[in-house]
Amino acid sequence: MVLGMKKLIAGNWKMNGTAAAARALAGEIADGLTARPGLRERCDVLICPPHVHIEAVMETIRSKAAGLISIGGQDCAPEENGAFTGDISAAMLADLGCNYVILGHSERRQHRQESDELIAAKAAAAHAKGLIAIICVGETEKDRDSGLQTAVVGTQLSHSLPPGATAQNTVIAYEPVWAIGTGKTATPGDVGSMHGFIRKKLKERLEDSAFMRILYGGSVKPDNAAALFAVENVDGGLIGGASLKAGQFLDIAKGT
Ligand code: PGA
Repeated sequence: MVLGMKKLIAGNWKMNGTAAAARALAGEIADGLTARPGLRERCDVLICPPHVHIEAVMETIRSKAAGLISIGGQDCAPEENGAFTGDISAAMLADLGCNYVILGHSERRQHRQESDELIAAKAAAAHAKGLIAIICVGETEKDRDSGLQTAVVGTQLSHSLPPGATAQNTVIAYEPVWAIGTGKTATPGDVGSMHGFIRKKLKERLEDSAFMRILYGGSVKPDNAAALFAVENVDGGLIGGASLKAGQFLDIAKGT
């Protein structure tokens, strides 16, 4: 990590909760962060609620902790607008006040058959509207057992980043699929070698590769966060399950 670069702690709420629950959770996170000035000096905080709850969360954050927490979407369409029933455009997320969008999460790659090329098109659409794309990559357990983890992640990186990607508009999230929601975490050693590999790959194509944040995700919890965040080239975390509990999410941020 480059000196002075703040870590990013991002909560991915996935498809959970009612609007009332989203307001309550955002409120608890906002209160916790306002009460701990040291924490917000140390890291940037982002929450990505389900799209239908973004407005409720945005209102809560604006009233309790304006400017302290960024809000993002969990996906966007590659097209700008039009006849795409059920989809959400990057412009709509930007219009709500979002700064980020998660793209290519392994759950979308796996259950919605998203390809690297589709993810790159979505990222280009996000960039065009001024959003920072968090592009997710990661190998399955089978890939790792066959020693293919760097080959798989290398291919995902080569094809999921659009031509205009820079450290200003793109964040990478390395999330080994076998560690997501399973309680199994990659060891700091494995994380270090994969993040080092990702940094090297980024350097091959980007001038500002040293400044591109690379997050780790997959069963990050308060008790393993500090060890993971201490690893070289780990510039923050993408947190799933533990981001649904304000106390745990804030304790994870404390590990930065
Ligand atoms: P997890 O999810 O923290 O529940 O493993 C991480 C993610 O899917 O982004």
